[in-house]
Amino acid sequence: MIYLDNAASTQIYEEVLNSMLPYLKEQYGNPSSIHRYGRLSRKAIEKARRQIASLINADPSEVLITSGGTESNNTALKGLTGNHVYGHIITSLVEHDAILEPCKELSKNGFDIDYLPVNKFGMVNPSDLQKCISQKTNLVSIMFGNNEVGTIQPIFELAKICHEYKIPFHTDAVQAVGKIPINVKDLGIDLLSISSHKLNGPKGIGALYIKNGIGLDPVILGGGQEHGLRSGTENVANIVGFGKACEIAQNNLQKNISHLEMLRNKLIEKILNNIPEVYLNGHPKVRLPHNAHFTFLGVNGEDLIIKLDEYGIAASTGSACSVNTQKASHVLQAMGFSHEQITGSLRLTVGTLNNKSEIDDAVDVLKKIVHELRAVSPYKEKYSFVSKN
Ligand SMILES: Cc1ncc(COP(=O)(O)O)c(C=O)c1O
Repeated sequence: MIYLDNAASTQIYEEVLNSMLPYLKEQYGNPSSIHRYGRLSRKAIEKARRQIASLINADPSEVLITSGGTESNNTALKGLTGNHVYGHIITSLVEHDAILEPCKELSKNGFDIDYLPVNKFGMVNPSDLQKCISQKTNLVSIMFGNNEVGTIQPIFELAKICHEYKIPFHTDAVQAVGKIPINVKDLGIDLLSISSHKLNGPKGIGALYIKNGIGLDPVILGGGQEHGLRSGTENVANIVGFGKACEIAQNNLQKNISHLEMLRNKLIEKILNNIPEVYLNGHPKVRLPHNAHFTFLGVNGEDLIIKLDEYGIAASTGSACSVNTQKASHVLQAMGFSHEQITGSLRLTVGTLNNKSEIDDAVDVLKKIVHELRAVSPYKEKYSFVSKN
């Protein structure tokens, strides 16, 4: 098996799993309990909170633990707007559904939502944000790095504009945390979403960074855990694993970036040099180190994924919704892609546990499959690729 779908989820590290096991076995106390079982669980949570905070240079008191990226995004959007009956949110056309769907709901409730456009590389222009801000604007939410095409947004510039107008700035950094250095203080970020399973931690756990002083209404009410911001007995084992994954990510950040970039660049080079009529999507340079996204003209991306899977290679089109609902990628549409370009898209995302020979093997298989699919493609007359192959 060659796993090249690390933007969807990553393999849990052995060390992370081992850190969790005691909390699934003998250390099962409820962190709210006063006795020593409870105190041990509480201590473990607070250690994890420090590990999570440290990765993004936050104070532990600024870390709200959630069930993952989706909940963090929902909490940021709904928590900040909860006490307003109307208002204005600015986001972008290329956000994950975990931003777009809560925005849709807020819009039904009377909020105005503006979606900033992107250029052909999937990048937002900060001057578009400046023009869009009004007196009604309560929140700006622009993702850090795109989950489909990997483009990194100009976060510092966007946050700076928000601060000029005293508007809180949220970023969905699910794909970026642990992959690139992120310092929330230097970047001027007010709220930031993280997901554990994207950085070799367990699934169903994540965090929302909330800068001290930002007031947020709770979305989940009950026993008052997480300082009343998120009720419910904490998932101690997952929190501990998430903390450990953050610690490992922080200690190995530069080494991991070099490794991911080396693999990703090799992948891009080999594909572009060995397969005709292939285009790299997203920004050529300002992109997440683990992301490579292509259009193979004359091929259906989903056919590619199915064929790759037969050879034991895990890949994706990059757009989760396209798998479930056959909907064309809204990200590629926003980048101005034609239907044919969207249809031929494939996302390959490397992880810290991949190696060079896997890249060689994957490209050999990909070349063969693309050739076979193109031979029966309805577009085969349109391009020169059959003869070139
Ligand atoms: C950019 C982005 N935001 C949010 C999410 C959702 O995160 P989670 O799976 O932790 O709910 C994902 C996951 O694919 C993502 O890529």
